[in-house]
Amino acid sequence: MLIAITGTPGTGKTGVARILAKLLDAKQIGINELADKGKLNYTYDRKRKTREIDTKELSEAVSKEVEKNRINILEGHLSHVVEADYIFVLRTNPAELEKRLKKRNWSRSKIRENVLAEFIDEIAMEAGIGKTAFEIDTSRMKPRKAAALIKDILNSYSLQKKYRIGRIDWTEKYRNVVLKMV
Ligand SMILES: Nc1ncnc2c1ncn2[C@@H]1O[C@H](COP(=O)(O)OP(=O)(O)OP(=O)(O)O)[C@@H](O)[C@H]1O
Ligand SMILES: [Mg+2]
Repeated sequence: MLIAITGTPGTGKTGVARILAKLLDAKQIGINELADKGKLNYTYDRKRKTREIDTKELSEAVSKEVEKNRINILEGHLSHVVEADYIFVLRTNPAELEKRLKKRNWSRSKIRENVLAEFIDEIAMEAGIGKTAFEIDTSRMKPRKAAALIKDILNSYSLQKKYRIGRIDWTEKYRNVVLKMV
C-alpha cells in the first residue's frame, strides 16, 4: 500500500510523515531524499531556485523504493502525481504559512509563489476530487496530532467523508495576506 503525503512547502509533510511512519510501522520515502541520494534525476530551475522533477521519472524511482506487503509513505510536494492508494494534502492558511516560510532563507518571490499556491488550492486541485484524497488543516495542529488523525482517517469511513478534499478554501479570509505580499 502507498500513502502519499503532499502539500505546499511548509505545511509539515516531512514531520508528519516521519511520525506516521512510526505509528504505522511503514517505510518512509522522501522525494527530496531520493533526489539528494541520486536515485531521482532532476533539473534545477535557477530562476525559481527549485528542482524540476519529471513525473514519469518520479513514478519509476518510487516504484523501485516501494516495498510490497508493507505500508509505504511517500512524502513531498509532488507525491500526489504518483499513483497512490491514499493521498493526504496538508493545508496551512496563508498567514501561518507565510510565517513558517519566512523562517527559511528564501527570497520574497519564492515565499510569495508558495503562499499564493496554497491560497488558490493548487495542490488540492491537482490531487483531485473523486480519488481517495483527503485534506487536513495543519495551521494549528502539531505534526503528532496530524499524523494520529491520518491514522484515524485510514481506519474510519465516516472520517474519510469528513476530511475528503474540497472543504478548505482560504480565498475569502486570506485575500489581504497575499495582496500585501508584492
Ligand atoms: N503544526 C505546526 N505548527 C507549527 N509549526 C509547524 C507545524 N508543522 C510544521 N511546522 C514547522 O514548519 C516547518 C515546515 O515543516 P516541514 O519541514 O515538515 O514542512 P514540509 O511540508 O516538509 O516542507 P518542504 O516541502 O519544504 O519539505 C518546520 O520548521 C516545522 O517545524
Ligand atoms: Mg519536507
